[in-house]
Amino acid sequence: MTDTQDPIYQTDTLIAEDIDAYLDAHQHKTMLRFITCGSVDDGKSTLIGRLLYDSKMIFEDQLAALEADSKRVGTQGGEIDFALLVDGLAAEREQGITIDVAYRFFATEKRKFIVADTPGHEQYTRNMVTGASTADLAVILIDARKGVLVQTRRHSYLAHLIGIRNIVLAVNKMDLVGYDQSVFEAIVADYTAFAKSIGIEAFVAMPISGFKGDNITSASANTPWYAGPTLMEHLETVAVDATLDAQKPFRMPVQWVNRPNLDFRGFSGLIASGRIAPGDAIRVLPSGKTSTVKSIVTLDGDLDAAIAGQSVTLTLADEVDCSRGDVIAAADAPPQVADQFEATIVWMDEAEMLPGRPYWLKIGTQTVSATLQQPKYQVNVNTMEHLAAKTLDLNAIGVANLATDRPIAFEPYAQNRDLGGFILIDKMSNATVAAGMIHFSLRRADNIHWQAVDITRDVHAAQKWQQPRLVWLTGLSGSGKSTIANIVEKKLYARGKHSFLLDGDNVRHGLNKDLGFTDADRVENIRRVGEVAKLMTDAGLIVITAFISPFRSERDMVRQMLPAGEFIEVHIDTPLAEAEARDVKGLYKKARAGQLKNFTGIDSPYEPPLTPEIRIDTTKLTADQAADVIVEAIIGIWSHDL
Ligand code: ADX
Repeated sequence: MTDTQDPIYQTDTLIAEDIDAYLDAHQHKTMLRFITCGSVDDGKSTLIGRLLYDSKMIFEDQLAALEADSKRVGTQGGEIDFALLVDGLAAEREQGITIDVAYRFFATEKRKFIVADTPGHEQYTRNMVTGASTADLAVILIDARKGVLVQTRRHSYLAHLIGIRNIVLAVNKMDLVGYDQSVFEAIVADYTAFAKSIGIEAFVAMPISGFKGDNITSASANTPWYAGPTLMEHLETVAVDATLDAQKPFRMPVQWVNRPNLDFRGFSGLIASGRIAPGDAIRVLPSGKTSTVKSIVTLDGDLDAAIAGQSVTLTLADEVDCSRGDVIAAADAPPQVADQFEATIVWMDEAEMLPGRPYWLKIGTQTVSATLQQPKYQVNVNTMEHLAAKTLDLNAIGVANLATDRPIAFEPYAQNRDLGGFILIDKMSNATVAAGMIHFSLRRADNIHWQAVDITRDVHAAQKWQQPRLVWLTGLSGSGKSTIANIVEKKLYARGKHSFLLDGDNVRHGLNKDLGFTDADRVENIRRVGEVAKLMTDAGLIVITAFISPFRSERDMVRQMLPAGEFIEVHIDTPLAEAEARDVKGLYKKARAGQLKNFTGIDSPYEPPLTPEIRIDTTKLTADQAADVIVEAIIGIWSHDL
């Protein structure tokens, strides 16, 4: 079976056209996206297989294979074992490497469905979060013989965290407990207490048997005491988020500005919430400019109105500034705008979160640079306890403050998933490292303003007859940074220049004495040094820094903090073998002996600059010659500038 051809086993990356073709055929129906939570043992595969089978979405050849397999493994009474269908596909999936979440599609007379099969184990938390991020509903499966388990709590917590409002507690395998009402009720009572404790306000519980088919598509004679809907009835009738979204205030993140000629300027995007009609007053965020909608343009002609879920192009009555990433919103009920937030972060990368490192943050269609602070706490996803944490590892969930480099339009995630949910992307690898949900903006952001000063950085610099510079020396421990920096400063002094030298070993005795040598601490070390160096350039100084500064990200971050041309990156390029042979402080010897952990070049990485302004090969130049090269370069820049 080649899974790329199979419409019931598809992943989000493989199959955009297939989904489109499939959805076209069922276009008039609403769509419910849901996830199933539980392990195979709870009967998850059997249940999904049963739903697919009963909605006739299994193809003939698969059915024949399924019946043959069921005979071979000999299920009781020759019944079809639906788990074989889904588990067979799962086994195939395990051979593929890149597939994270499997989606299956099916439809009934009333509705179409996408079900994300999210793996149950704790190490798959990130997959569950990915699969659940657009879901309307979660089916939490419980084995009637086992009751509420640790994983039931974890799944429920995650489903709630991700903002899934409809929870179905499917108490499965009722056939194995003799359809006993008291077993069902005890489980429901147990779950109710837990659900309340984590803020789940309502859920629907139903006694089922995926294997026997009780209360799946038809009401079971075995549970006369249960008067609620069957699982399928509930899935077919529960209100989907798209319907609720249409009732909220209007918001449309702008995907692109459509300007085919000078006479037409339209703003295209997917309506995240609300309804819009020509004549409606709108506000563009974050700028706050207002206008009114002139027309709603689509490929099928102009519309009288459009609602959440539709992709449209809006034209406006006025020439307002509006670009990709902006949000067009109802003028009288706009989303908020801020640059500091508290958020829940789900860490999804093998490499731990590094507080202070800038990541790309994508929210709606906006992409900005953002840094996280150290987490306030991490959540134990099994017990919901709050734990102290310095960072977050793969699959860890925590709460942290973050700051963006410019204001963004947002809404709390609980109100709007599209404008409250974001992802973080590593700037170097382009990998998605985290998903996040905004709680609220920090008021401190509103209350801190830049104080205008009269003696500006230009005035400070002019008084010293120089241009401020930040000469950033980077290289391995023992590469010669401090020695060279010291000579550079003496040569500058001799020329009457005002300078200051910030040196790793010295700064770590004072300002940064709370920091060690983990990746996270090195990031924070460089962030602070960058801020201090920046202030010193504001004072008009030529600042020289001598820090290993092993990561490109942070060196680039400091570069971005300064006016173009002011940051001069100098790679003191000494091969590891050479630095180790010199071993001025005896630290390499200790590191090799295992007495010093996280030593750069030994068991901690060094990322050399790709395009430094200056590269010094210390095997070819003496420290004095190296200092001359640097000073000449600085003076060259001066004579060019002045
Ligand atoms: S950085 O990586 O955060 O930029 P920094 O330049 O401040 O490092 O400090 C490096 C100095 O600390 C080294 O020159 C060395 O003297 C000392 N040191 C102590 N432990 C380590 C270690 N594990 N790795 C690197 N340097 C260390």
